[in-house]
Amino acid sequence: MSGRIPAGGVLPPVGLGTWQMWGREASRGVREALGLGYRCIDTATGYRNEQAVGEGIRASGIGREELLIVTKFPEEDAGREHETLSRSLDLLGVEYVDLWLMHGPLDADGSLAVWRRFVEAREEGLARAIGVSNFRPGQVDDLVTRSGVVPAVNQVAFGPRHFDPALAPHHAALGIVVQGHSPFSENDLAHPVLRATAARHRRSVHQILLRWHLEHGVPTVAKAASPAHLAGNLEVGGFTLSPDEVAAIDRIADEGRTGVLS
Ligand SMILES: NC(=O)c1ccc[n+]([C@@H]2O[C@H](COP(=O)([O-])OP(=O)(O)OC[C@H]3O[C@@H](n4cnc5c(N)ncnc54)[C@H](OP(=O)(O)O)[C@@H]3O)[C@@H](O)[C@H]2O)c1
Repeated sequence: MSGRIPAGGVLPPVGLGTWQMWGREASRGVREALGLGYRCIDTATGYRNEQAVGEGIRASGIGREELLIVTKFPEEDAGREHETLSRSLDLLGVEYVDLWLMHGPLDADGSLAVWRRFVEAREEGLARAIGVSNFRPGQVDDLVTRSGVVPAVNQVAFGPRHFDPALAPHHAALGIVVQGHSPFSENDLAHPVLRATAARHRRSVHQILLRWHLEHGVPTVAKAASPAHLAGNLEVGGFTLSPDEVAAIDRIADEGRTGVLS
């Protein structure tokens, strides 16, 4: 798997998602996660937790250069890009973020206008890498064609429920890293294929889902507040899924397309 992004960063297989973590739970969760070995922390202006995330980072004592801090720009702030990023940096207590993502697409002209400000932020050193989130391949193509600047990352819900076999190859051809979000909340954890695979490997369904992302070369961000969940989600390196197992999980998306999956 290559989660390599510009300016020397590499997205690790599993990063910490922080959506719906606030205050002390967020700062404690970030500190514990960093203590366990997480190095990528994913937040967003829209999560309203950047200050607590920053407190957790500082409490961890981990050096800034070891971390990959990701935050996202809410598209409704279009026109206030610099101000929004400055506020994120202040709240996080850092001088730059490693990756700044456009949280979602606008119409083509709107996305292009925001993207130009993203490029400026990167040139100013406020964001080491810039990318997008929840963009469809056609929207990525449009942005790249019109701006001439390729996003480092597209963060999307990639899990079996959403699996599109064309997405990762399309992005890889452009040099864009796909980063998965919501590996659990966007998927059917009780699906019999996932449960059978988990039983076969004596792993949790959560670990099977994270491993399946990795078999596709896609790093993920997963949210966990519980210490046991935080630790378990890092243990995805000690086993592999066979090509047949990966293909069986891939086919879950076909059930969704035909309406079999609720
Ligand atoms: N770019 C975007 O538009 C976008 C959209 C959605 C999410 N995201 C990012 O993706 C991250 C993850 O997505 P998400 O927050 O939707 O949730 P998720 O990671 O799919 O699922 C989180 C839930 O799963 C539970 N969990 C985690 N690990 C577990 C384990 N090993 N065993 C049992 N339960 C486990 C957590 O419980 P506990 O908390 O109790 O441990 C929590 O209830 C977000 O936090 C955010 O950073 C990005």
